[in-house]
Amino acid sequence: MNDSTRLDGQVAIVTGAAQGIGQGIALVLAAAGARIVIGDIQDASNTVDQIQAEGEAVCMLMDTSVPADARRLVQLAVDLHGKVDILVNNAAIDAPDGNAWDLPDDEWQRTIDVNLTGVFNCSKAALGPMLAQSSGCIVNISSRSAEAGAKGLSPAYNASKAGVLGLTRGFSAQVAERGVRVNAIMPSLVESRDFGWTPDYAAERRAEYPLGTGTPNDIGEAVRYLVSPAARWVSGTALQLTGGHQG
Ligand SMILES: NC(=O)c1ccc[n+]([C@@H]2O[C@H](COP(=O)([O-])OP(=O)(O)OC[C@H]3O[C@@H](n4cnc5c(N)ncnc54)[C@H](O)[C@@H]3O)[C@@H](O)[C@H]2O)c1
Repeated sequence: MNDSTRLDGQVAIVTGAAQGIGQGIALVLAAAGARIVIGDIQDASNTVDQIQAEGEAVCMLMDTSVPADARRLVQLAVDLHGKVDILVNNAAIDAPDGNAWDLPDDEWQRTIDVNLTGVFNCSKAALGPMLAQSSGCIVNISSRSAEAGAKGLSPAYNASKAGVLGLTRGFSAQVAERGVRVNAIMPSLVESRDFGWTPDYAAERRAEYPLGTGTPNDIGEAVRYLVSPAARWVSGTALQLTGGHQG
């Protein structure tokens, strides 16, 4: 039987892959045979080094909220490999905890600029080569927070992640018939880095997840499915990854 989730020869751009979930996605896609191009506001050499032991990867310093940076990132992939098959819009910022009535204007704006406009910028740039080649896959990392607020969590984050679902549906409706599929992933809690929790709080949070909290690798495997030929009939949808948590 053919492994329909292999990605040999595919060119994959992953934003925000210097650490955390983006790094996990880049490692999984590289292990499946994809050539990785990373755009991150911080140096992603660590991820590149891990991939280069057995695969191919480069990184570029860029800010997804800047349209010209998004275009430079896509151009790097085209210059190196002649095409772009996959774009994973993963880069985002966590808005610091806070209530709506205390949310500083500039914090609202930066969250929307990075988490929502950044997805638009990179998608628009990648659609150039994807539409020209009549093929491609975009995966947007949204969040369960798109549909659920929480006390003390900045509503700018909720709004930005809900907006990402709108972009996913809107882009999909416009490009599916031209060979490009666009989907989103909505993760619940992924322990992508040290959140600074006390042991008691960590135990309390983990107890909410029947299958445990998520790992960057879990999200990478879901991306691998969505960008593979196995998902050829899947577009305009959002895959919820929740570890069995139904809240
Ligand atoms: N960790 C979770 O529990 C969780 C849950 C749901 C969704 N998510 C989403 O998953 C994605 C990754 O989360 P994470 O926990 O790994 O976050 P993280 O903060 O550990 O990593 C984010 C990465 O994005 C980069 N980045 C930030 N702003 C950027 C910009 N303007 N341009 C380019 N790169 C930029 C950072 O440098 C970093 O490498 C985000 O979209 C996040 O909203 C995370």
